[in-house]
Amino acid sequence: MDRSYSIAPMMGRTDSQFRYLIRLISKKTVLFTEMIHSNAILYGNKNKLEEYSNIENPIVLQLGGNDPKNLGKVSKIANKFNYDEINLNLGCPSPRVSSGGFGAALMNDPELVKDCLLSIKENFNKEVSVKIRLGTDDNDIDKTLDDFVDSIQSCNIKVFYVHARKAILKGLTPKQNREIPPLNYERVRKLKEDFSDLEIIINGGIKQLDFLKKNDLSSLEGIMIGREAYSNPLIFSKVDKILEARLIKDNSLYDITSEMFNYFETIKNINLVRRGLIHMHGLFNGHKEAKKIRILLSNIIYLEKSKYEILSILEKDIIRAA
Ligand SMILES: Cc1cc2nc3c(=O)[nH]c(=O)nc-3n(C[C@H](O)[C@H](O)[C@H](O)COP(=O)(O)O)c2cc1C
Repeated sequence: MDRSYSIAPMMGRTDSQFRYLIRLISKKTVLFTEMIHSNAILYGNKNKLEEYSNIENPIVLQLGGNDPKNLGKVSKIANKFNYDEINLNLGCPSPRVSSGGFGAALMNDPELVKDCLLSIKENFNKEVSVKIRLGTDDNDIDKTLDDFVDSIQSCNIKVFYVHARKAILKGLTPKQNREIPPLNYERVRKLKEDFSDLEIIINGGIKQLDFLKKNDLSSLEGIMIGREAYSNPLIFSKVDKILEARLIKDNSLYDITSEMFNYFETIKNINLVRRGLIHMHGLFNGHKEAKKIRILLSNIIYLEKSKYEILSILEKDIIRAA
């Protein structure tokens, strides 16, 4: 699933009707349900998970809760539907949520978070992700955030949606806590530097699709937009075109590279092959893995192996953009 652009989960807003509206504007923006507490499904409205239609994919089911068993049970039920991902809410600061010990309050209990995630992963067949804050209250975000993320990624969680400010669990309303304290995008950039293998999607105060580029945050995998998506949904009208153009570009890169390697097989003079490989360096300008690909291109002795590795990298781009 391409997570370049997603609409943040919002209680009372991102229901099936709003998601239908967005699908008329963009087919590829990732959509989230409102947060649903696991107990609300198990002991309340059992049909809650059915409240979506297939036109809404790609769609992420956001769960709240802190009981690993119950989260696991709900995740198992969710397999019957076509959700593409389950996301655990670790970012909601509301007093009702905190007093229930879930949402952002859970960030203070990484061991319990791990148990919850392991249980969800054990029961759900597709991707499992988290939505987090930079920390809570007086936490030192430099250390605690990295420790927290490190602990969570140990259960093989690879996708993190990060609301770029702390959760204040005492003294602010959730509404105030969406403006205070100030956003800290720099901390999210640093998080990606420290955990380059993780897919990190940034959230908070974003109003434009070219946010990553404009803020020198292109190392991140995507943006998540909440309130602006609700007040100005037409900003998503350009998403499909952007992603399709990217797909065509990535597809061609795979094809061109593959054709070049086929062509080299017809050349007997190794020096000519070497020259051909050097000519290919410019193809990967701007590609995330350009450095690695260029090193592989210089390895003429093991050309077959390099070909395989380079094509695997390019294939991943195609899958990611699909
Ligand atoms: C009305 C409203 C309801 C929200 N409900 C949820 C929720 O159910 N789950 C969640 O993780 N975040 C929830 N949030 C937080 C948003 O997902 C997002 O993190 C926050 O609004 C910051 O992004 P923005 O500045 O783009 O709006 C809610 C926000 C709003 C405004």
